[in-house]
Amino acid sequence: MATSPYTDLFGLLDITGEDAVECAHLLDTPPDEPVLRAITAMQDRLGNFPLDPVTADGPVQDEAGVERIWIEALLRFAPNVHAYHQNLGINKAVSAASLADVGLQLRINRRVHGHFGLDTWAWLTLHMAGNLFRLGRLQFHLVPDGSQTPEWVLGVHIPEDGGLSPELVDASFAEARSFFPRFFPDKPARNATCDSWMLDPYLAERLPKSNIASFARRFTLDRCTDAPTDAVYFTFRQRGLHDLNRLPRETSLQRVVLERIDDGGTWQLGHGHLAL
Ligand SMILES: CC(C)(COP(=O)(O)OP(=O)(O)OC[C@H]1O[C@@H](n2cnc3c(N)ncnc32)[C@H](O)[C@@H]1OP(=O)(O)O)[C@@H](O)C(=O)NCCC(=O)NCCS
Repeated sequence: MATSPYTDLFGLLDITGEDAVECAHLLDTPPDEPVLRAITAMQDRLGNFPLDPVTADGPVQDEAGVERIWIEALLRFAPNVHAYHQNLGINKAVSAASLADVGLQLRINRRVHGHFGLDTWAWLTLHMAGNLFRLGRLQFHLVPDGSQTPEWVLGVHIPEDGGLSPELVDASFAEARSFFPRFFPDKPARNATCDSWMLDPYLAERLPKSNIASFARRFTLDRCTDAPTDAVYFTFRQRGLHDLNRLPRETSLQRVVLERIDDGGTWQLGHGHLAL
């Protein structure tokens, strides 16, 4: 069997199955103007620690068209990020674990929409700036904290990948505490922040013994904002609040998420911080 010219790239990004076939199609022809523009946008951000993702530019297109442009651009640009990581002395495994979110997000997109696509492409433009790393169970995003005095902070994210036991979380934070001072000594971060539906205090009240509650309790909650669809998206991988009565109520989390909405409640995004 002939080997694909993209085996290494797809290995790096953990792109598998049908997604690998679709991605190979995108790479089989030269990039067009919109893809080149997207690549330039990522190149301008690499090494510059942007806080926010890229937003779509140019003429208004259909969602699927925008997603295809960005999938192709992400695929073509990822090796530059891998090289940037290696130039900093970061080992290949950490870089690959960080970039593997591309493949994971493609698989999640299939579950959400039933076809190839990447509705979370903007999220992945953060990885492509070179300052978001998966260290063990968690992802950490080294960014300026947005205050007047230049301070640095680690934004914490929780990729879907099985359970979130306290031991795994401890190990991940321990790795972050040594990784960032080693590779980014001029950007010391004293705090980590997390903005997540998992920090909504309603969850810890209802499921006090859960891993999610134990994770949330690590953070001091600063405030909450309305995020009506997040809990449904992350629990059921459904966008929007339609057809909720068709969703399963098998796990305690599924029941808590749906019962709150049944009762007229609104899920929140909890914004919290902890000292590293
Ligand atoms: C965060 C996550 C890893 C927690 O998983 P976990 O460690 O298994 O969670 P807990 O132990 O706290 O789970 C408590 C209960 O909720 C259930 N549960 C947890 N996550 C679930 C999910 N995504 N879908 C359905 N049920 C879930 C568990 O099965 C358990 O149910 P039980 O009491 O009936 O046995 C998981 O929810 C996940 O992968 N979420 C998607 C990623 C995400 O939300 N990231 C944050 C984005 S801001």
